[in-house]
Amino acid sequence: MVKNKIMPSLFGANIGSLESEVMPLKELGIDVLHVDMMDSSFVPNIAFGPTQVADLKKILPFQFDVHMMVENPEKYIPQLIEAGVEYISIHQEATAHLLRGIQLIKKLGAKAGVVLNPGTPIEAINVILEEIDYVLIMTVNPGLGGQELYQPIYKKITALKELIGERPIDIQVDGGVNAENIKACQEAGANWFVVGSYMFSGNVAERLATLEDALK
Ligand code: DX5
Ligand code: ZN
Repeated sequence: MVKNKIMPSLFGANIGSLESEVMPLKELGIDVLHVDMMDSSFVPNIAFGPTQVADLKKILPFQFDVHMMVENPEKYIPQLIEAGVEYISIHQEATAHLLRGIQLIKKLGAKAGVVLNPGTPIEAINVILEEIDYVLIMTVNPGLGGQELYQPIYKKITALKELIGERPIDIQVDGGVNAENIKACQEAGANWFVVGSYMFSGNVAERLATLEDALK
């Protein structure tokens, strides 16, 4: 049985309030923080460059799952791994050299994920499944927090679960995940749940407890 993991998304937090919003998550049992990189080219927004990721990694006591919403992600992978990042995912749509990127992440010692935008079919990764540690299914168009989960995505998650079969590959969902739909994501086949605005728009301990209850 795959292990469920809730991964708070730093993009949804006020980074001026790391002490009160993010640090408490450690005591609450969170071990992986989802960190978005955005380049205003692949997605219409800007977030955390590799230098900021490295700085944050030094002060936040979590493993980092870096979601690279940037063109040519290969360029920044060595810097992220140098900073101690444990998980890195790259978009299938953002590189002409997906396999090369995945192999680089693994060669340098991190876990490698492929991200698929809502409109990208799962067949795009069929051939390279053996190389992948996790697949991130975007449940919204990437680049913004606070959007509503795109309902037709459940079928895609289930189809991916079937395609993966017995392989030890985790399925992550990101975008619009909240207490109302996290169970449906799990039932569709996901086991890693990125939660941004829902997690940080209230008391984090209460929000986390509600999400965990919903998964039971
Ligand atoms: C959006 C980012 C997400 C974002 C999720 O493109 O990849 O990680 O922080 O935020 P919510 O949970 O608010 O959709
Ligand atoms: Zn993300």
